[in-house]
Amino acid sequence: MKNIRCNSFLRGVCFASFFVNVIYFFIFVFVVFPPKNEIPNFEKSSGMYPVKNDRLISEKEFTVGLPPVPEFTQCEKVNDDEKFDCFPRGIVTQNLCENRGCCWSAVSNKVGSVPPCYYPRNYTLYKYENITSTDAGTVGYMKNVHLSPYPEDIQCLRIDINYETDSRVHVKIYDPIQTRFEPPFPYVPKVKGYSRNPLYEVKTDKNKIGFTVVRKSSKKAIFDSLGVGGFTFANQFLQLSAKLSTKFIYGLGQHRNDFLLSTDWYTRTLFNRDQTPAEDMNLYGSHPFFLGVEEGGDSFGVFLLNSNAMDVILQPSPAVTYRTIGGILNFYIFLGPTPEEVIQQYTEVVGKPMLPPYWSLGFHLCRWGYNSLENTKTIMEKNLAAGIPLDVQWNDIDYMEDRKDLLYDKKNFAGLSKFVDDLHEQGMHYVVIIDPGISNVEAPGTYFPYDDAVAMDVLVKNNTGDILLGKVWNTETTAFLDFFNPDIVDYWKNSILRQQKEQFKYDGLWIDMNEPSDAPNGSIYGCPDDVLEHPPYVPSVSGGQLSVNTICMTAKHTSGNHYNLHNLYSLAEGIVTNYAISQVTGKRPFIISRATFSGQGKYTGTWGGDNISTWKEMARSIPYILNSNLFGMPLSGEDICGFQKETTVALCQRWMQLGAFYPFSRNHNSINEKPQDPVSLGPDVVNSSLKALTIRYTLLPYLYTLFWLAHINGDTVARPLFFEFPSDVKTYDVSTQFLWGPALHIIPVLTEGATKVDAYIPKGRWFDYYTGNEIISKGERIRLPAPLDTIPLLLRGGYVISTQEPALNTVISRNKNMGLLIIPNEKNEAKGFLFWDDGDLIDPYEKNEYNFLEFYLTENKVINKVVKCNYIEQTNLGNVDIFGVKTTVNSVMINNVNWKNFKYLPDSKKLIIEDLNIDMCQTFVIQWT
Ligand code: GLC
Repeated sequence: MKNIRCNSFLRGVCFASFFVNVIYFFIFVFVVFPPKNEIPNFEKSSGMYPVKNDRLISEKEFTVGLPPVPEFTQCEKVNDDEKFDCFPRGIVTQNLCENRGCCWSAVSNKVGSVPPCYYPRNYTLYKYENITSTDAGTVGYMKNVHLSPYPEDIQCLRIDINYETDSRVHVKIYDPIQTRFEPPFPYVPKVKGYSRNPLYEVKTDKNKIGFTVVRKSSKKAIFDSLGVGGFTFANQFLQLSAKLSTKFIYGLGQHRNDFLLSTDWYTRTLFNRDQTPAEDMNLYGSHPFFLGVEEGGDSFGVFLLNSNAMDVILQPSPAVTYRTIGGILNFYIFLGPTPEEVIQQYTEVVGKPMLPPYWSLGFHLCRWGYNSLENTKTIMEKNLAAGIPLDVQWNDIDYMEDRKDLLYDKKNFAGLSKFVDDLHEQGMHYVVIIDPGISNVEAPGTYFPYDDAVAMDVLVKNNTGDILLGKVWNTETTAFLDFFNPDIVDYWKNSILRQQKEQFKYDGLWIDMNEPSDAPNGSIYGCPDDVLEHPPYVPSVSGGQLSVNTICMTAKHTSGNHYNLHNLYSLAEGIVTNYAISQVTGKRPFIISRATFSGQGKYTGTWGGDNISTWKEMARSIPYILNSNLFGMPLSGEDICGFQKETTVALCQRWMQLGAFYPFSRNHNSINEKPQDPVSLGPDVVNSSLKALTIRYTLLPYLYTLFWLAHINGDTVARPLFFEFPSDVKTYDVSTQFLWGPALHIIPVLTEGATKVDAYIPKGRWFDYYTGNEIISKGERIRLPAPLDTIPLLLRGGYVISTQEPALNTVISRNKNMGLLIIPNEKNEAKGFLFWDDGDLIDPYEKNEYNFLEFYLTENKVINKVVKCNYIEQTNLGNVDIFGVKTTVNSVMINNVNWKNFKYLPDSKKLIIEDLNIDMCQTFVIQWT
């Protein structure tokens, strides 16, 4: 490629912009923020309570003193839907707008509607100096020719467009002279060579900034940014807009809105925050990834690998605008063409999800406020006695001594070590919470977590280099672990090891408050006045300022400022914790994290945070689960029955049914609320829980296989209907029902008192899980019975589902017989898979210690194919249930030998073959006539 050509130009403009920057600097230092002396009480200011979202942060001071912009023309003929907002903050007037070289048309000044101030068609701040294309992609250099309204425009930019794979194009726009921040993870494996036969074509134009990705097969421009909007690349304001080929957009989490995102001037803000899930607010995680689905089913994905706080705006044309306040513009665009393939391609970039230990797919019981081991035990035992399958007991911060990480309360939790050993004896597991903030006020020599952290210098610093102090759960003040420091790996491993050796042997960790959450907004002394604290453009973060409910943006980690690393904090903690705990236990890690970033699913699972016990919140948990799967974090769930506020019997009865089908299934509630475990809520909740959890446990081999496919291929586990029926537009907005893999359709009751559900059933052959009754759907709404103790479940024709006899926990059930549900499609065919290993081994794929079996139905014959059987434990087949057998069955043959133990149920048309004793690692043939 040619030499960089922006240098000579640079010098001149740099000089001019220096003066502008000096003016900005003075504007910033005159904005005084009073220091805070009082240490706030975390419980009052925690994100558990909604905070008003202050969107109108004025930005007019940043337009002061700018050199006049050129007269851009071409304001005419811009449709309302295609107006890209040129003045996104504050109240704009015609004057202010035109000062920016933008177009004015007096419509409403309301956020979330047609912008009154919009970019003219020929708005451009950059011009190409050269641009060269080859078979492998394009490289171009652009120089800044007009200043934007934001400080410090980057003078020279390089665009690299690389045709990395057939279905993925990588577009990186960055400063080739001064290295800018790029997230250290997720680590994206480098691609060698380039695609010779991409599904796409990428267009550039030497007179227009941007690029357009066109799908070759349909000739549709899926992402068209060529000359669209107001491309800007200033130090703290980077903006790129693109027209999209569809208005069916999903993702851009974490949010609490409909699964199908609105394109009606809708802003999604991404900035990790301890915030009770509420609509239109930035929540615990950030995932700058979206999936677009065109009518007809062609799908694509767009990932902006950027960890800075950002707004992503969707507008009706349809189009997207990214506004991020740091880093570079680093896009990966995936061509699918199916939605599932888009997720597979996305997880190739950010990392495939981890394989959870088998036991962690059982049911989990937790609460904040058991307050003693005795009470934990009593509640747990009551539930076990009622027959509730339970694999994992948890404890929240109340197990800690004065809410101090890594110490337990020796009075109220005396005997914890024995309790955990006893759980292990019974085949159960134990998980505890850990927060990233540790107490800094203990007497030296009395609290190893702080003493060691100081000795190893692994704490987050403030801008003057002292340890930054905030306030989380412990009684006094809190220092924060710097998970970006290489030495934290030893620190964390040693701390976990020490706790396990000296205290008790937990099996998994619950990493909470890792946005990171901090009550005093920044630190106990507030934050310094600085452009990092108050950037020229503040995305629409709840609370109005970046440091609200978290540490200062000027806080220092080993690898940089918190400003850039904030959204990555939980991912860093996840990576370190995953490594540390696997080193200590020698087993496959189980970690659940509240905050998340793209790529988190490779290291941890997640849950939806502090939801509320309402019917609406229960319904909203489904989009949450589906989004988590879209983001490559299939191990996700919400607090079953609701965390905050008191649940009711009616709600918890239905929520336990739905929660039995969350990939991660845990009942958890807040301190001061009444107990909400099944037994405490009485027989209705117990019966519903028993019924639903028994089905979960029966289907665990299928669920585990789905997690394996997620781990190996990047598949989703819980998926929206349109993933399986992408050409059926009627599925695009369904988020009250979902699937496990391709074959199990879950249709929860989400309305109080309802005993029927009107569900959308995509075209095809389905069977009622309970009765075996066949449903042939034309792609229509069908009313399904849903008595109070039952969650409607349908099985999809064409699949084989592996099962196992359920038990009180998975250590017991794993010794029982397995089974197969054979569910024929219209052609009387079906197929399915089973992955099996010891459930706890680290890296079974790499170690090649697992079994993988395939099953096929054709007409009246089922066979298996042994792909791999390297895991020696026998997988014994006991039962086979065949659905939709239309005529009476007189004989069954197993490997050509007559088998007497079968029954044919003429009403449900089910053939049940029993008492088999087949080693599934040997090939078998089952036939009937
Ligand atoms: C946070 C968590 C919640 C937990 C509480 C106490 O609010 O989200 O699940 O119970 O802290 O640790």
